[in-house]
Amino acid sequence: MRKKIIAGNWKMNIKPSETAALIKAVAEATKDYSNVEIVCCTPAIDVPAAVEAAKGTAVGVGTENCHWKESGAYTGEISTGMIVDAGCKYVITGHSERRQYFGETDETVNLRTRAAIAAGLTCMMCIGETLEEREAGKLVEVIERQMNVGLKDVTAADCAKLVIAYEPVWAIGTGKTATPDQAQEVHALIRATLAKLVGAETAETVRIQYGGSMKPGNAAELLAKKDIDGGLIGGAALKAADFAGIIAAAAAAN
Ligand code: PGA
Repeated sequence: MRKKIIAGNWKMNIKPSETAALIKAVAEATKDYSNVEIVCCTPAIDVPAAVEAAKGTAVGVGTENCHWKESGAYTGEISTGMIVDAGCKYVITGHSERRQYFGETDETVNLRTRAAIAAGLTCMMCIGETLEEREAGKLVEVIERQMNVGLKDVTAADCAKLVIAYEPVWAIGTGKTATPDQAQEVHALIRATLAKLVGAETAETVRIQYGGSMKPGNAAELLAKKDIDGGLIGGAALKAADFAGIIAAAAAAN
């Protein structure tokens, strides 16, 4: 059985001085849900405060991006070695905002994802179509391309550290959620595509998160779907009570 994983993506919100309070509030509000993997991915500058505050709790800490080189002249980037050294166990790669605003391509997502897995981090690789792509009938093509390129040279063994986040771009931060049936349809496509890449048996073990305006009010019906194994949460991860509400729904769906 796939353990549900609910991860917050704080994006460029929450200052270092505000971090400990939010992590502690999340840990306190979710301490009874041991059947859910709980993660907060924070801005890199918040990581020391997040790791310190999460000590002794079930909350794991991660970053929102990583570079594929171990070190070097890459101003503004952080390496997987740095992320591990800082006490993180998770990282997000390929978020649509990175693709849209920072020139991220399927190829660079692949490099970052492979580096994250090689470093022993659990990597949440994001994929998802834009509204134009969906309306042009290109959903399947886009998902297959993002996976075929994004997961190039990722082996079945590597999949132990892989989580895929399906985030329809039109649902992120917009209040528009994919319906549970719409989401399940794409999650099933993702698992089938994964089966072609790494084998059906391994594909069954990989968790696929839904992301895009997930909140306490819609989490239960999404998480009840067969291939929806968790969530990647933006806005609702910034308030402990909302985030805990989603984690409670995941705990009940297990
Ligand atoms: P949202 O963001 O929950 O605010 O829609 C999700 C994400 O971008 O990961």
